[in-house]
Amino acid sequence: MSQYKIAIIGANGMLASMLRARVPESVDLHLFDLPDFDITDAEQVNETLTLLNPEVVINCAAFTQVDACETQRDIAFLVNSEGPRYLANTVKNIGAVLIHISTDFVFSGTAIEPYNEDATTGPLSVYGQSKFQGEQAIISSGLTDYYIIRTSWLYGPNGPNFVETIIRLAAEREELSIVADQWGTPTYTGDLSDIIWSLISPVPSSSLSVTVPYGIYHYSNEGACTWYDFACAIIERLREDGAPMKVQQVKPITTDEYPVPAKRPAYSVMSKEKIIAATGVNIPLWQVSLKKYFVERCLDTD
Ligand SMILES: NC(=O)c1ccc[n+]([C@@H]2O[C@H](COP(=O)([O-])OP(=O)(O)OC[C@H]3O[C@@H](n4cnc5c(N)ncnc54)[C@H](OP(=O)(O)O)[C@@H]3O)[C@@H](O)[C@H]2O)c1
Repeated sequence: MSQYKIAIIGANGMLASMLRARVPESVDLHLFDLPDFDITDAEQVNETLTLLNPEVVINCAAFTQVDACETQRDIAFLVNSEGPRYLANTVKNIGAVLIHISTDFVFSGTAIEPYNEDATTGPLSVYGQSKFQGEQAIISSGLTDYYIIRTSWLYGPNGPNFVETIIRLAAEREELSIVADQWGTPTYTGDLSDIIWSLISPVPSSSLSVTVPYGIYHYSNEGACTWYDFACAIIERLREDGAPMKVQQVKPITTDEYPVPAKRPAYSVMSKEKIIAATGVNIPLWQVSLKKYFVERCLDTD
């Protein structure tokens, strides 16, 4: 079988580490991340990728600390907007495909039903604005062969995330106060990685289609919950696993009771109809994937 040459940018991050763990045999993978490779260095991006000449570039690099973006605005826009612009320009020149990961935080959160790909955007934070500008930079670059995948509330191994934070806090504190008026959908990096690989390489065991039209897609797990619901489900899993826990009570609080620098959307559930229609993917409910993560997490620590 001939191999696809694929570059992953931001290769040491949480999503990228799952992509690496699940790489299909048909892929010849090349990894790039700081400090050796910086997407904000246009010349380095162009020289490195032109020399490598991959068929596909997957961009997982981002400045993802949502609150820190508020005070480090310049870096946020450099990494999340200019970086994707440089990548798109080079990818266009070498005739490759770009897969870029974006976020539900491009939306304002005033909707009352799941956002589809054409819905009006309205980012509330510097992070959301910079990621939205990154999308726009790719679209306006003239590159046609791109997938922009917006995802939400990511968790998985090898990264700070809400699941790992709650696991830690449940062992440390008797009471947790968790925001109960922001709705969204958790996404397991394992599920997102599988759909990304299926877009670009035939996965032998998968029934997924491989001729997916280019464009913007939404992908998260199915269902919707608040951070409070998510925290309760994580603690329930810990309880079922018999994990030692200190936590006695999880208290629902409002966004106003938990002030943070960056404003978050109150509702950022995304419709997956487009990606389901294009690929035939069967997207698991967030509760099912959380359970799967706990099983895989246990296997990893055994
Ligand atoms: N995490 C979420 O909840 C979430 C939700 C929705 C969408 N997303 C999107 O999903 C994608 C992956 O997220 P993730 O959570 O896996 O991110 P992550 O763990 O923060 O990984 C990002 C990686 O990019 C690297 N990076 C940062 N600046 C760079 C630069 N200038 N040049 C090259 N690499 C650079 C980081 O290196 P350092 O660690 O050294 O900075 C890190 O290895 C991102 O596009 C993010 O915006 C994430």
